[in-house]
Amino acid sequence: MSGIETRLRANADDIADTLASLLPRAEVDGVRCAEARLLDAMRYACEGGKRLRAFLAVETAILFGTDRGHALRVGAALECIHAYSLVHDDLPSMDDDDLRRGRPTTHIAFDEATAILAGDALQTMAFSILASEATHENPFIRCELVACLARASGARGMVGGQMIDIEAEQADEPLSLAATSRLQRMKTGALIEASCAMGAILGHASATNRRAVEYYARDFGLAFQIRDDLLDAIGDVAAVGKAVAKDADAGKATFVDLLGIDGAKERAALLTEQAKAHLAPLGDRAAPLRDLADHALDRKS
Ligand code: IPE
Ligand code: IPE
Ligand code: MG
Ligand code: MG
Ligand code: MG
Repeated sequence: MSGIETRLRANADDIADTLASLLPRAEVDGVRCAEARLLDAMRYACEGGKRLRAFLAVETAILFGTDRGHALRVGAALECIHAYSLVHDDLPSMDDDDLRRGRPTTHIAFDEATAILAGDALQTMAFSILASEATHENPFIRCELVACLARASGARGMVGGQMIDIEAEQADEPLSLAATSRLQRMKTGALIEASCAMGAILGHASATNRRAVEYYARDFGLAFQIRDDLLDAIGDVAAVGKAVAKDADAGKATFVDLLGIDGAKERAALLTEQAKAHLAPLGDRAAPLRDLADHALDRKS
């Protein structure tokens, strides 16, 4: 395993432990509560995954000298939002997928109503984690974290991007490169940018340093979604852990559709270089963020 792979694995394990302790228990003293099915589905939806958004938040926070325990809670909140977005993204009314992280999607493993509710509950759980004193003793910092995550995941961020993504499937004309770029920045980039921003908020970063990590995340987020679209086009279902070769038939607005495989690869590589260039003022401290960008560029899952 390379250095970044080892670091990602360690972070993923810590996030899994943090989530396991934060998620509500379906069973207490051998008795299952009436809403146990919902809690089982929430846990199921949070299992697996690369935990990349959590990694960004934790590594950014650590880079600015934050305590790792606080950062892991912020990482867990981000992964709750991300897991909710995937549960809803996979629903029959959205991308209609039955494989996610190498397992049946939540609405297949449970049922559609349970999946919708599990997504809803994971979303509110994220904000409840951030609002807790255990995340940060300063209520102003907690409010800033809540506001940042709400902006990134809402109508002008992830959810807005999902709306454009779904509408584009039925459009007569393909979206332009500019419109596709905006859509991707919203549906995927916004949460990735928030991950770094929240790490910077926790770490009391200066305005200049916060901008450096946000600009990094902005370019990295777009490169990350382009790679996701490439994996749909050229990836292997066993490695990717979700269905592939669906986006073109579904009429998805992607860089692969607009630029072709090689063009999309070039664009992702350029954005990765740009992302890393923004980190120059942070010097060696930002090495994990640089390594992550390189690693994600030719990821297989
Ligand atoms: C998948 O995200 C959905 C996108 C926004 C591209 P990830 O590739 O980070 O999914 P997991 O969490 O590792 O499963
Ligand atoms: C999803 O994009 C982005 C989200 C906000 C969930 P995709 O629809 O391409 O993600 P996958 O390929 O299903 O993971
Ligand atoms: Mg989708
Ligand atoms: Mg999808
Ligand atoms: Mg995809």
